[in-house]
Amino acid sequence: MKKIFLSENDMPKSWYNIVADLKTAPLPPLHPGTQQPLGPEDLAPLFPMALIEQEMSTEREIAIPEAVQEGLKLWRPSPLIRATALEKALKTPAKIYFKYEGVSPAGSHKPNTAIPQAYYNKQEGVKRLSTETGAGQWGSSLALAGQMFDLEVKVYMVKVSFIQKPYRRSMMKSWGAEIVPSPSTDTEFGRKVLAEDPDNTGSLGIAISEAIEDAVKRDDTKYALGSVLNHVLLHQTVIGLETKKQMEIAGDSPDIIIGCVGGGSNFAGLAFPYLRDKINGADIDFRAIEPTACPTLTRGKFAYDFGDTAQMTPLVTMYTLGHTFMPPGIHAGGLRYHGMAPLISHVVREGLVDAYAYDQVEVFDAAALFARTEGIIPAPESAHAIKAAVNAAVEAREAGEEKVILFNLSGHGHFDMTAYDAYFDGKLQDYRPTDEDLQKGISATEGLPKV
Ligand SMILES: Cc1ncc(COP(=O)(O)O)c(C=O)c1O
Repeated sequence: MKKIFLSENDMPKSWYNIVADLKTAPLPPLHPGTQQPLGPEDLAPLFPMALIEQEMSTEREIAIPEAVQEGLKLWRPSPLIRATALEKALKTPAKIYFKYEGVSPAGSHKPNTAIPQAYYNKQEGVKRLSTETGAGQWGSSLALAGQMFDLEVKVYMVKVSFIQKPYRRSMMKSWGAEIVPSPSTDTEFGRKVLAEDPDNTGSLGIAISEAIEDAVKRDDTKYALGSVLNHVLLHQTVIGLETKKQMEIAGDSPDIIIGCVGGGSNFAGLAFPYLRDKINGADIDFRAIEPTACPTLTRGKFAYDFGDTAQMTPLVTMYTLGHTFMPPGIHAGGLRYHGMAPLISHVVREGLVDAYAYDQVEVFDAAALFARTEGIIPAPESAHAIKAAVNAAVEAREAGEEKVILFNLSGHGHFDMTAYDAYFDGKLQDYRPTDEDLQKGISATEGLPKV
């Protein structure tokens, strides 16, 4: 069987919350000013109460509202596909499966959380949402969801992506959103960054600060984040919950589960429903993949840190390169984030998940191989997972083992063709920060509460 589909009736009716199954609890987030544990009211200027409750919930299952299920039906359930042509090209005895999230209207997994976030904001009377976007996938997704629930959307897009991806901007406009390059002149923080460095190409940390400032200053506006937070990871578990049913139909169960990690949401979405099995004794090898240019899990420090550059977010415990770290302008814009979801950081620290980092050029080699075998042109972010799946399949060949490899193909790369052109023209570069470069960023966590 090449593709395994589910019917709409098989869609999950609840999200899975891994917090209920963790043996040790993650440390509490702290208020950025008082540095005391955060209460729900501290988050109220930013998020609707329903999402704050989800953020702090320890319930194992949280029901998906019907209107959200209807919204997700635009493209869900997404297919599980066996990468038979890739297996053949690699001459591997391994079976390689991928869950394809590029079938959503925005082209990635991000609408899985944009739709519930827009829904809960609408329910609580919010008129307008502000957000940041790196690669443009999240901004597009929130624009789509805003349109669905009649909310205005303002997107602060990291300047390097704003320049690299003009059609992402067109897409957001098609769904009615307003987009500005970040750092922008629309916020106090953006103006401050530009005054210090007019050529600043932006980072997710800066764009998050701008979007938060926008939300905090307006009564009609709340903020939406496309990754990192517990409730975002929760919404993404529809990916893994569907995959479990599809793998059952295929008659296989995964030995190795792979996803790329920027803030951690698509990896969590696929992995967390299976991680529950590992916590209960199953033997599964989980691999979270990041770029060597922004090596948060593999070379970062586990510490309390801010999620944004202007120090407006709560302090959370995570692997971090420091909130002032400016990642190099690699084409996987969605993986250029200084931090990592606290829940992903926690399961890595507990030894449940292993982290790996790959260079940009080897990642594009894997992307090109995938495009030429399976036909799908992957997003540069997702191509990190492909590279890891290829490596796992080669390991299986060398060991003569019939492993079952499962990875998340988080999005397509149709708006990333300038990156592919640069790769085919031999113009792509690898970037590996030196220890000194990293130490500069990480030192920004000194003076913050210790873990
Ligand atoms: C296609 C794609 N995959 C992965 C990511 C990384 O985000 P996360 O780690 O939250 O899934 C992004 C972020 O923009 C993305 O666009």
